[in-house]
Amino acid sequence: MKPSADSPEELPPRDTLRRALREVRISVTDRCNFRCIYCMPRAHFGKNHRFLSHADVLRFEEIARLARILRGMGVGKIRITGGEPLLRRDVDQLIAQLAQIDGLDLALTTNGVLLPRLAARLYAAGLARVTVSLDALDEAIFQRMSDTTMSVRDVLAGIDAAAAAGLHVKVNTVVRRGCNDGEIVPLARYFRGTGHILRFIEFMDAGTTNGWNRAQVMSAQEMLAQVQAVFALHALPPNHAGETARRYAYQDGAGEIGVIASVTQPFCEQCTRLRITTDGRLYTCLFAEDGADIRALLRAGQTDAALRERIANVWRARADRYSMLRSAQAPLAQNALRAGMSYLGG
Ligand code: GTP
Ligand code: 5AD
Ligand code: SF4
Ligand code: SF4
Repeated sequence: MKPSADSPEELPPRDTLRRALREVRISVTDRCNFRCIYCMPRAHFGKNHRFLSHADVLRFEEIARLARILRGMGVGKIRITGGEPLLRRDVDQLIAQLAQIDGLDLALTTNGVLLPRLAARLYAAGLARVTVSLDALDEAIFQRMSDTTMSVRDVLAGIDAAAAAGLHVKVNTVVRRGCNDGEIVPLARYFRGTGHILRFIEFMDAGTTNGWNRAQVMSAQEMLAQVQAVFALHALPPNHAGETARRYAYQDGAGEIGVIASVTQPFCEQCTRLRITTDGRLYTCLFAEDGADIRALLRAGQTDAALRERIANVWRARADRYSMLRSAQAPLAQNALRAGMSYLGG
């Protein structure tokens, strides 16, 4: 359906709080080779967990078609996530398809251990940057948080391989008080001067399975104070409106770090992000209870215009601002993300 002359379609679409649709996170698999205790606790993601079947999962052509439609609606940034996106077979072929779309900032979030094998192929396919999750340099703490037998060395090798291949690298550290808050300064020290941007993330109540409580959240302010006690920092202006991280530079020129204060200083007012799950559901918030099925339309032979109209309508109806409504002490029980971050793509 074409927008009629008397109802001009606004692009990008805006939601009920006037927020534009600008970024999309697309999950390409719900599987992961880690079992991070805050994301895929083994008790819930063990042998009996049913992952999506092949038929449920969006095909590369379907994802690329959605990406082209979204670009046409004004979306400027697409981030590929999972689960662990590098577990998706031939994911570089998807990157190659997406890289052909003009004017798209394309990034991928990964745990890094498959980068030594794949970084060069991803770069050749047209990927410009990756974000690698790493919660500790200390082996015991790392293995406890990620519940894996992989080593910190595997992740660091992945980061090195990415940089050597030509990819820009960011490193994400989720800080959980009492688990890895002692790793903040060692991580800052390690990545200073490498050109990689390290970002510390407040532990969120994502999913009903990770046993979140407010006492485990270390505030971004505390994290910054820890770094600042050792290395002088000054604040940097945001790169763009709606940026999740607040940026800081080392006084001595050794680079940049960031903090993502999603719990203590929520940024819902600026949130311009749509999420697409592995099985093609549109989630308008990390904490939304449900998502709208776009796969059914894709597979029913609908036109691009119809798909676009559906996406725009989902966005226009959006009123989410979960992090601003969450109480200071507890998650909103009825709302806590049911499927967890691995399904929704972080
Ligand atoms: P770049 O700056 O381009 O790398 O993207 P980004 O800032 O979106 O970074 P990234 O996608 O790596 O997000 C970092 C982390 O911030 C995620 O892993 C989440 O923990 C958190 N985050 C990202 N988007 C949202 C969001 O919309 N809401 C909330 N509450 N947290 C988010
Ligand atoms: N709180 C904050 N960040 C989280 N991530 C996963 N679970 C949580 C949580 N509960 C982050 C991971 C990764 C990204 C995909 O989401 O560390 O960087
Ligand atoms: Fe896997 Fe990332 Fe979730 Fe850890 S946080 S289990 S690496 S998807
Ligand atoms: Fe956006 Fe929802 Fe996160 Fe708020 S809680 S920033 S609306 S994803």
